[in-house]
Parts: sequence; structure tokens; C-alpha cells
Amino acid sequence: MKTFHINLKGTPKRSVIVCRKNVLTKQLKDDLPWLKAGGAMIFTDSNVFSLYQRKIKVLDLPVFVMPAGEEYKTEQTLFALLQAMAEAGLRRSSALIALGGGVVGDIGGLAASLFMRGISCIQVPTTLLAQVDSSVGGKTAIDFCGVKNLIGAFHQPMYVYADPDFFRTLPPREIRCGLGEIVKHAALNGALFEKLLANRGRLFDLGFLSELVPENIAIKAEIVRKDPNETGLRRCLNLGHTTGHAIELTKGDLSHGECVLLGLLYENRIARKYLATDEAYLDALESLIRTVLVCDVTFDAEEAARLALHDKKNMAKDTVSLAVPTRKGEFAFLDLNFSDYVHALKEIGKAL
Ligand code: NAD
Ligand code: GLY
Repeated sequence: MKTFHINLKGTPKRSVIVCRKNVLTKQLKDDLPWLKAGGAMIFTDSNVFSLYQRKIKVLDLPVFVMPAGEEYKTEQTLFALLQAMAEAGLRRSSALIALGGGVVGDIGGLAASLFMRGISCIQVPTTLLAQVDSSVGGKTAIDFCGVKNLIGAFHQPMYVYADPDFFRTLPPREIRCGLGEIVKHAALNGALFEKLLANRGRLFDLGFLSELVPENIAIKAEIVRKDPNETGLRRCLNLGHTTGHAIELTKGDLSHGECVLLGLLYENRIARKYLATDEAYLDALESLIRTVLVCDVTFDAEEAARLALHDKKNMAKDTVSLAVPTRKGEFAFLDLNFSDYVHALKEIGKAL
């Protein structure tokens, strides 16, 4: 078992992250005695519910189940959940337990931030992506008006319970998606980068991935601690994401993690074009990305660039703001005007 405490700079808030097996048992309630007083509700999706319903029922709490999938990360699901929370009689002292991947975690976190102006949220992430990234750090959101994560709030989870046993039921594609965010962390952290390169043959090994979870949480937690509300440093966690989110909206058949990998591939090459970089390092990073990525790497550059212009991370009108890798463990922020960005995407697409 490994536990992390994130004491958030400039606020009295903190988040506790526990990595341990066998989370979905009665012990969860015993660990959190205040749940008994305030009451709690479980929010999950249809896939996780059908796989884990026996264990969920042991907790003896009201459950709200959303249909699985990014296409349901909508205001309809959010308001249906808020209604279920009201009907279950949750109070200010209650907690919402978000049991699932990043979609459940993002909607659950947002509902917890809104209900009665904010109740506690406990994240129980069940995908690799959610354990290494989305359950940590308090970003919550729904997609809105065709833009990823347009409506959201920062609402730090009171607890995160990361249990590697959940990986046993994950399809290989979901492991690949989680590796997308792990490779992103490796682009920010030289030690993790070396470890992934040295263990290329074990990237899909569940034992190795369980080892990587606390390491990735520690990398993210340190960045979130310093900049919980993304006023500066935390923007580095968006590496690969500006282009990745635009591709996600352009190519509906790809998942978030796959698009992050594609975004990393393109932004790696954009960095070489515009900045002084370590070419040998970026070659090695590209080959690591390609070890994990198996999808078609081309997309409609014009459409993706137009969508990237709506990204909430952009610093100015008609500008696309990127966080890009430059050297081992180093990154830079780069603002490109629209025409340079479209041109770069087209040129890279042709060369890949
Ligand atoms: P997801 O939540 O859609 O889960 C992927 C699939 O795996 C779903 O079909 C789900 O039902 C299924 N699943 C979940 N747990 C399972 C298990 N243990 N066994 C079998 N199947 C299981 O997607 P995701 O990849 O976990 O998360 C992607 C989402 O996270 C995106 O919406 C993205 O925007 C968001 N995200 C948020 C942050 C953040 O900081 N808040 C960071 C990264 C990504
Ligand atoms: N996934 C980006 C962040 O948490 O800031």
C-alpha cells in the first residue's frame, strides 16, 4: 500500500491518494466512518456496473449508472446524476463515490462540486488512464457545444483509491489509452522516460503497470500541489492535449488516450520545427510513442486546427497554445498563429 497527501499550495485543502488492492469491499466504508453519518452514493457506468455489481452491492449504497462512453459526457448525464443525488437525500456532509474511468470521474467530480455548492468526492478509478491521471488533481468537466471539457470546475477529491486489480478486466485498447498519459508523464520526467525505454517489452504487463501507477501519481501530484488551479506550471500536463483534443473531436472513433498519443507525436515534431531541441531525445520519445500507438496517424488537419482554436487553454485569439517536449525532462510553452499551426499539421501529416 502507498499513500500520497497533496497539500495544495495557497489553500487549506488536501487530497489523499491511496494505492492498494481490494478496495471494493466493506472495508471502504470502515475506512471512511463519516460516510455512515453523511451518507454516500455510488456513480458508475454500465460496463463497470455489469463487471463489478456483486462487489458494488456489498457496499449497500444507492447507485446511479450512466451509459458507458465519452458521448455521454454531457449535461443530460450530469443533470440526471444531480437529480438522483437529490432523490437519494444526499446532504452537504455526504459524499459521491465516482467508480469508473475518466468519464465517470470527470462527471462525478463536477456533480459533487455543484450539489449543494460542493460535497465531498471520492474517486475510485477503474481504468489505467484514470488511475495515473484523471482521478488525481481535481479537474472535472463535461463536453459542451462540441468542445471537450468546456464546462467544468476544479474540485479536489477528498480521497482517491487506486486499485490495480481493476486492470484485470480492462481490454488491451484501454491499457494503450492509459499508456498515452504515462508516456506524457515520461516526457516531463527523465527517470520515468528511461524506465519506459528500458522496459519497452513490458509495457502491457499488468504487474509492471501496477508498479507504474504510484510513480505516475507522484509526478502528477507534485505538479498539482504547486499549481492546483493551472495558473502556470500545471499547463505542462496538457502536453499532447491541444492537438489531441482536436483530433478526438475530428476522428470520433479514437479514444482520449489514443488521441493524446497522436497529439504527442505531432507536437514532438512541431517542437523540432520551432524550438531548439535535443533531436536524439525527441527521436527516442517518438519511437516510444510509436511502440504504443497502433492507429492511423493521419486526420483532417484543417478541421482539427479549427477545433484547436476553441481550446480553452489558448492564450490569445487566433492562437493555438501548446506545451511541447524539448529535451529529456524538459518542456516549453509555444504559441502558434492559426496559419502556422495548420501548415505544421499538414506538413507533419504528409511526412509521417
Ligand atoms: P472511460 O471512462 O470512457 O473508460 C474507458 C472504457 O473502459 C469505458 O467503456 C468503461 O466503461 C470501461 N471500463 C472502465 N473501467 C473498466 C474496467 N476495470 N474493466 C473493463 N472496462 C472498464 O475513459 P478513460 O480512458 O478512463 O478516460 C477518458 C476520459 O478522461 C476523457 O473524457 C478525458 O477527457 C478524461 N480525462 C480527464 C483528466 C482530468 O484531469 N480530469 C485527465 C485525462 C483524461
Ligand atoms: N490532465 C491534465 C491535468 O490534470 O492538468
